[in-house]
Amino acid sequence: MKIENSLSAPPHPDAPSQAGLHFTVATEEDFDEIMAMSQHIYGGLDYLPTRYAAWMQETNRTVVLARKQGKVIALESVCVIDDGETMLVEGLRVAPPERGRGVAGELLRFCSQLTKAKYPEVKVSRLTRDDQLGPKDFQKYRLITKQGILLVRFRAEDLKLRLAQLGPDGSELSSTSSTSPPPPPPPPVHLDSAAVHRLYLSTDLLRDVLPNVTIVQDWQPYKLLPSNMDILLKKDIDWVVDDEEAPTVASLCTFPIRVPIGEDWYYLNIDMFGKDLRLVRQQYLGHLRRHTASLKGHVMCQIFLDPALWKPMVELCRKVLQVELVKEYTEQCVVEADVV
Ligand SMILES: CC(C)(COP(=O)(O)OP(=O)(O)OC[C@H]1O[C@@H](n2cnc3c(N)ncnc32)[C@H](O)[C@@H]1OP(=O)(O)O)[C@@H](O)C(=O)NCCC(=O)NCCS
Repeated sequence: MKIENSLSAPPHPDAPSQAGLHFTVATEEDFDEIMAMSQHIYGGLDYLPTRYAAWMQETNRTVVLARKQGKVIALESVCVIDDGETMLVEGLRVAPPERGRGVAGELLRFCSQLTKAKYPEVKVSRLTRDDQLGPKDFQKYRLITKQGILLVRFRAEDLKLRLAQLGPDGSELSSTSSTSPPPPPPPPVHLDSAAVHRLYLSTDLLRDVLPNVTIVQDWQPYKLLPSNMDILLKKDIDWVVDDEEAPTVASLCTFPIRVPIGEDWYYLNIDMFGKDLRLVRQQYLGHLRRHTASLKGHVMCQIFLDPALWKPMVELCRKVLQVELVKEYTEQCVVEADVV
């Protein structure tokens, strides 16, 4: 199906009556209008300003706008992944004065129909949410996997000073304790693209490490497929495991991006898989060292991890790293619904 700039689809029988909504495919020229209605969303961690231009170039992605009287009031992006079987919904947002009137529901249904018409092989729709899901949501969605969210903030310069006082496992270098601490685990391994391919695709070694055999990278859930690896390996990601032959913990650190909280604010995203606290601590500290070294200014660092590790990792953040916890425990849920 050819996608025109102005889109129309048959109204869904269950669609709430939302008079006057008009759908268009977003273009580079829409950027300022989209940003104007996106202020303060995602707690300031909106990735759209940084990623919008790249999104416009991705051939497997369609960004759809809902307009009312010509004005942009909502956005949703749909990206087709998993060998064409999954439509991934991202970036969903509705202008604050228009919320609570079913605009998101209408846009979601529209994009679903549009994607199914363009890619008939699409079977499911997936999205990642961090709000509290209720029984009504679980009538619509299956839960694929969930991770705990730990969000901290710090000044890069302060963290660098603190990290210089710590060993790779977070122990104090100047400790005067008479009992010697256990030796740190061997250093983690940074994977190149050949090693990523080998470990994630040619072996079963990570199947038990990844939650529901899913790589969730910066909110995007991917099945272990060569086509997805091609997408992932084009991104700026630091791939790490504790042991290439027998991995227990794997992590993906997405390189820092600027976020619209203020001047010199960055967002650092770390997706951590595995349940061994010592190894998780070690990889977390390694990513912080490596990816904040050249930053100047404020950093919001979000780590997604096994829910049981949230509390001990908060201890590490507060007591050892002396960084500020931004919010209490929340969850990142990957959910899925059939596209009919
Ligand atoms: C979340 C948001 C998009 C909802 O928009 P809205 O038009 O007010 O949505 P409504 O409350 O009218 O709910 C309409 C539908 O969207 C669904 N919905 C609500 N929040 C959703 C979310 N985060 N992801 C997907 N669907 C959501 C509702 O379940 C409802 O579905 P239904 O029509 O099938 O019953 C809007 O509040 C917003 O822009 N928030 C800030 C950005 C944000 O948090 N986006 C979510 C990213 S996961």
